[in-house]
Amino acid sequence: MITKEPFGKSPQGSEVYAYTLENASGVSAKITNFGGIIINLWVKDKSGVRRDVVCGFDNLDGYLQADGYQGALIGRVTNRISGASFQLDEKTYTLCPNFGDFSAHGGKIGFNRRVWGAKPIDGEEPSLILTYVSPDMEEGYPGTLVVTVTYQLTSAGGLSIRYEAYTDKTTLINMTNHAYFNLNGYEAGSIAEQILWIDADTINEHDANIIPTGKILPVQGTPYDFTKPKAIGKDFDSDPDMEKQAGGYDNNFIFNNYDGQMRLRASLYSKMSGIKMQVLTNQPCIGIYTANMLNPDDVPFKGGIKQVRRGAVCFETQKMPDAVHHPNFTDTTLSPEEHYDYTTIFQFETDV
Ligand code: BGC
Repeated sequence: MITKEPFGKSPQGSEVYAYTLENASGVSAKITNFGGIIINLWVKDKSGVRRDVVCGFDNLDGYLQADGYQGALIGRVTNRISGASFQLDEKTYTLCPNFGDFSAHGGKIGFNRRVWGAKPIDGEEPSLILTYVSPDMEEGYPGTLVVTVTYQLTSAGGLSIRYEAYTDKTTLINMTNHAYFNLNGYEAGSIAEQILWIDADTINEHDANIIPTGKILPVQGTPYDFTKPKAIGKDFDSDPDMEKQAGGYDNNFIFNNYDGQMRLRASLYSKMSGIKMQVLTNQPCIGIYTANMLNPDDVPFKGGIKQVRRGAVCFETQKMPDAVHHPNFTDTTLSPEEHYDYTTIFQFETDV
């Protein structure tokens, strides 16, 4: 079942809507065509009580005023582009330096702040098809990029996100979703006790601005080792560099044995709620960001709940950050001959 309700007006005056997708799985999601934001994601806990496992705001104003890219689609290019410029086919392109002197998460007005066309398709696996045409040179990126993102609620209790795009000139693309998860509910505070597993023996080394140096580091024996399930906060304060640079995890983990296939690559589990989330994807990496910048003075979450630092975790499936500056990184260019096509599924299970 899909229900549609008004969700305010964009800064440019377009009406935007929120669509609630429900099915027999018991999982349901409310998504708006403003930025493709996941507003709510309800999952039943072990007592049968619905918990809303993503952070977010009560209304569009909250999303417009707050920092943090809550729940949104990120593009054209997620994470950082150092120096806010890049070269492609011998031309230099200049981007907006919207984070210090680098560009991040698509620029000044990224896909997270655009109004997307929306087509709901009802059924046992209801979906919401969002489309956005990013004009040539929007935010400094070449090529008209036609983007389709399909959110679908699966019968097995998963929220699937398929990202597709075509371009008419070679350009850059590296899209993700920036939902902040807390499996005890967004209002429950710290995620330190939740158990994280990631199928990654290596991460990208980064500098103090979280910009990749180009080096790839093994995680074994470090705070970044989640190859065996571990409480996400166990090593929070054990790396002085992490504390100085990011105040928590803000790292790109590189999946083992990448072959382009959909695979189970990460999971998060809360003993308290009994909810487990599995992350399946055909992307090569995941950015794990433990909400280090959430701040109680920022706009309150749904129902007036204060934001809490490290009160959630983002699972940003992606290619490597700043790849355009590193020939040895996973390629983020898209040519007119190619079809950009990646899927990530957030799949829920609950202890009985
Ligand atoms: C980045 C963080 C950044 C945050 C902004 C994350 O995806 O990795 O460095 O501060 O987004 O909300």
